[in-house]
Amino acid sequence: SAPRFRALLDLCKRRGFLFPSAEIHGGLRGAYDYGPLGAELKRNIANEWWSYSVYQRSDVVGLDTSIITPHNVLKASGHVDEFTDALVDCLLSKERFRPDKAPKLTVVETPKDGDLDLKIPIMAPDKTIAKQWVTTIAEQLVPGAVVSRHKSDIFLHAERVVEPVEGSNAEGKIFLKRTDPNMQPITISYNGYVAPGSNSPFLTASRPFDLMFKTFLDPIDPIDRVIQTTLSHPPSSTTTVRSAVDTVLRPSMVYLRPETAQGVFINYHNVLRTMKSRPPFGIAQMGKSFRNEIRLEHAIFRTPEFEQLELEYFVPPWESSYWFGYWRQERFAWWLRYANDPARFRTRDHTSDELAHYAQGCMDIEYEFPWGWGEVEGVAHRGDYDLKQHARATGERLDFVDESPGVSESVPAGAIALETVPKMEDGWPVRYVPHVVESSCGLNRSMLAYLFDAFDEVPEETGSRIVMRLHPRLAPVKCAVIPLIPRPELMELVGLVAGSLRRERVNTVVEAQNLKIGKRYYRHDEIGTPWCVTVDFESVKDGKVTIRERDSGEQMRVRWEEVREIIRDRLNT
Ligand code: GAP
Repeated sequence: SAPRFRALLDLCKRRGFLFPSAEIHGGLRGAYDYGPLGAELKRNIANEWWSYSVYQRSDVVGLDTSIITPHNVLKASGHVDEFTDALVDCLLSKERFRPDKAPKLTVVETPKDGDLDLKIPIMAPDKTIAKQWVTTIAEQLVPGAVVSRHKSDIFLHAERVVEPVEGSNAEGKIFLKRTDPNMQPITISYNGYVAPGSNSPFLTASRPFDLMFKTFLDPIDPIDRVIQTTLSHPPSSTTTVRSAVDTVLRPSMVYLRPETAQGVFINYHNVLRTMKSRPPFGIAQMGKSFRNEIRLEHAIFRTPEFEQLELEYFVPPWESSYWFGYWRQERFAWWLRYANDPARFRTRDHTSDELAHYAQGCMDIEYEFPWGWGEVEGVAHRGDYDLKQHARATGERLDFVDESPGVSESVPAGAIALETVPKMEDGWPVRYVPHVVESSCGLNRSMLAYLFDAFDEVPEETGSRIVMRLHPRLAPVKCAVIPLIPRPELMELVGLVAGSLRRERVNTVVEAQNLKIGKRYYRHDEIGTPWCVTVDFESVKDGKVTIRERDSGEQMRVRWEEVREIIRDRLNT
């Protein structure tokens, strides 16, 4: 799996899909910038989703809400109390291993029971060096230890060494395995430190870790104010610092939203009022979300800053099971529309212990990445949890007054058990808090999934070349207009063809580099351009140009004025 991942990331960097962020300043872990092609690909996926969710439906509208979110909203939604991950402190992760800063590890005792599995983050430029360092550390831990993949008293090896892209960490693992039951227990210390109640300095008991990013809406640096407050009330102690934090920091603390959904819930009534909507109806939103993830992995698969495409679909409670089923199917079908290899996409239902705090049911859509299946979207039955929570916290009535409740027109006959639908004799109108079916797609992950899905290494006589078989609507560049030779007499017609496409809003580039025509085709195959249009010397005489299709390699000769329509039609099918 690793070579394929590396090859894709190399291509992304070489051709301008993805760059490690702030690279010239040494980079920032988990941060990526989208280059000219990546920005287009990401935008195309988002546009496809928006068009499918909003423009092609009569029951969904869009929204764009604030990223900065007050405490009350996320307290009501349950995020402040529930949105945590279990964190195990690892002393070594605070001081990452570097060749110039070797840690002093000494073995005092072996672990009492069973194996000790230490995960040690290592800042290594590549996998080979990471492995070397793991070996060095292992030998340092147990002088004279046999470093081997095979049985020995002490079993040490580096495994799962991952180096996503430059600037991020390679990671090594050390296993200490006791194969001799009579071996005395040992404790491992790090610069003389042993974690209390543990036999190693690396693993402490787990504690909840808040995944939300906080910042302060305060014109005066609130950290300075905390320092001033504590200094002005000596002696400082944990209690005085805590009280300064509570009185000075917390009131101005705001969050960067961890999901776009809450912005939708707190605007549910505004949309209902202004758009005269009635359930079932949906609100779509796309935008950035932020999570202080403990583990950042696989380049843009898990990052602190990411984008979501979320649809919150509000339905009468008696229709919620039907709509949950409906959106599960719809969303999976959407993913398959753009896929070359549908077998690498699947759905997976959450078990009850996996469900988020708000969900009654959830299905993940997953893609089989080179490192295994990974979630790209969640479709969740959120019930009335969110609206009720916000109603309770604010005293607002976030319900819907239904004058004529029944089975919605958009629900097929027989899909709803009629005994669950309110009857007139039970009293109309009916007031209810709508249930919500949510689909939440990760935009960055979908870009990564479709890049892998499209990435095709075609064998050639000398090695191989890459063809990105991106769906034409996702492809960053739709058409390359190529003069056979970059000579002035061909460039006028090249300009006419390119101009006609650009007026149709088709992203077009002119490829007039002094390279053989085949090379220029290959350069565009590599970035997924579905069509190349070649202008040759005949073209100047007869006005005809050649359209070459990326996947079939087929070529057709057409009048230059027709190119625009042919490409527009193909993009729309
Ligand atoms: N509103 C529901 C919600 O946020 P989620 O399963 O936590 O649900 C939805 O997130 C999607 O957002 C995921 O399927 C994934 O594609 C994307 N996502 C979540 N955390 C991410 C991260 N740290 N980096 C990149 N994408 C992420």
